[in-house]
Amino acid sequence: MSLSSKIAVVGSGYVGLVAAVCFAEMGHDVICVDNDEKKVAALCGGEVPIHEDNLPELLQRYCNTRIRFMTNLAEATQASDAIFIAVGTPQSETGDADLSYVEAVASEIARSLDSYKVIVEKSTVPVYTNEWIRRVIERNGVPQHLFDVASNPEFLREGTAVEDFLHPDRIVVGANSERAARILQDIYSPLTSGAYYERRDRIPGRNSVAEPPALLLTSTKSAEIIKHASNAFLAMKISFINAVSNLCEAVDANVEQVAKGIGMDERIGPKFLRPGIGYGGSCFPKDVAAFRSVAEQMGLDFSLLAEVEKINNLQKKRFLSKVRSALWTLRGKRLAVLGLAFKGDTDDIRESPAIDMVRMLLAEGCSICAYDPAAMERARQVLPESLQMQYVSDAYTAADNADALLMLTDWPEFSRLDLDKINQALRYPIVVDGRNLYDPAAMASHGITYMSIGRPTVSPSRELASDGVDRL
Ligand code: UDX
Ligand code: UDX
Repeated sequence: MSLSSKIAVVGSGYVGLVAAVCFAEMGHDVICVDNDEKKVAALCGGEVPIHEDNLPELLQRYCNTRIRFMTNLAEATQASDAIFIAVGTPQSETGDADLSYVEAVASEIARSLDSYKVIVEKSTVPVYTNEWIRRVIERNGVPQHLFDVASNPEFLREGTAVEDFLHPDRIVVGANSERAARILQDIYSPLTSGAYYERRDRIPGRNSVAEPPALLLTSTKSAEIIKHASNAFLAMKISFINAVSNLCEAVDANVEQVAKGIGMDERIGPKFLRPGIGYGGSCFPKDVAAFRSVAEQMGLDFSLLAEVEKINNLQKKRFLSKVRSALWTLRGKRLAVLGLAFKGDTDDIRESPAIDMVRMLLAEGCSICAYDPAAMERARQVLPESLQMQYVSDAYTAADNADALLMLTDWPEFSRLDLDKINQALRYPIVVDGRNLYDPAAMASHGITYMSIGRPTVSPSRELASDGVDRL
């Protein structure tokens, strides 16, 4: 039976809120601190600010019992054994991570430290942040024996963050002292011992009593690099398949078959090889830039990462060219847009390639009728409703009388559309799919001209074999 720990989580955004709720689910007492009073009031009132599977249920289960929300960081610090910093680390103009929020939180924690605590970086930060947090705390007059700074990066995907937290591939703990390591090992012991997976009311997922996740103990600097290197590697995998998809288009090959073929090599693996309109979100673009910047500051040439970014940006421009090639001219065209979130199953539009695409299309003089199952409220804030930019409540209304339909986000519901209904709604039956959600042959058989990424364009008059290969 593992003991319950007292934990504070600072920052109740996508990362902090999920971590806080999952720590409560693991049996700990959690205080979640945020300096946004409105957010704290909403959370105290049971509101769920983000779209995340399992989060509403867990919040309801633990709110005001094992998890409390407050703005008072000093009180939370004094009541806790471990304080996780999960405030934002946005990208600064130079590409580095802006660590001013992390610094502000570290100073405030220092001012209220009265007994030993471990301060844990949960936000994605560049290597050496740990050292800086330590210095900031010491400068505030806190003696070394009263604290340790550890690094415990998260690998959560938005949308499935709760499941990812409770069923991780691995848990990484960077700690330079045994005391700090032990506190973190205890916090994660419900997962690493398998005890959590014995519970009947557990959140289901890939881990089990027989196969609990491993906890990898490293130095703090290694842990910081593991996080950036993981995200940079995944972004590189996506840019790689996007570059391959362009080659496939040039020679009339099919990137889906190519991705399957290379992914069957266990050394490569099938995941993160989905071509599209580029990666987005709050992490990959920011982390690739920050990792590159760290390398540059150390005098190292990591221009591979610059190429990853370049391919990602070009992918959006190539998609615009594809739309243009389907419609000849863009000015005055009415386009249906399905998807605004940076990926399916989330309401997050940060660095969304779909939003970038809409901006480019509006700049070309198109008018847009958009639908997204969860991200429209956020999208309205950056793309206000106007004659050119309209929001509707379903895919078929978006398609109504449009010159073409564009698929920009991989929401599962977009891959289950009634294609006959779409065909009838559109003024011209043209679909340009930036996420490869359909089998080209199926589209053609429903009378639709279909352009996708890295696969031959099909139109109703051209026959395709059932495997989607154009044999003309
Ligand atoms: C952010 C980063 O984007 C990510 O790289 C990092 O790993 C964790 O932090 P996210 O949780 O998505 O991820 O950020 P965001 O949704 O912006 O939430 C940050 C929260 O911190 C906000 O609720 C904000 O009000 C709060 N905050 C910010 C504080 O409580 N104190 C501060 O000084 C600054
Ligand atoms: C990512 C990491 O996966 C996670 O480990 C880290 O903690 C935070 O950053 P997230 O940003 O939620 O998570 O989304 P993810 O599912 O990784 O997708 C990121 C972007 O890449 C999305 O825009 C997505 O559409 C795109 N993507 C992903 C592809 O274009 N192709 C793929 O094969 C996979």
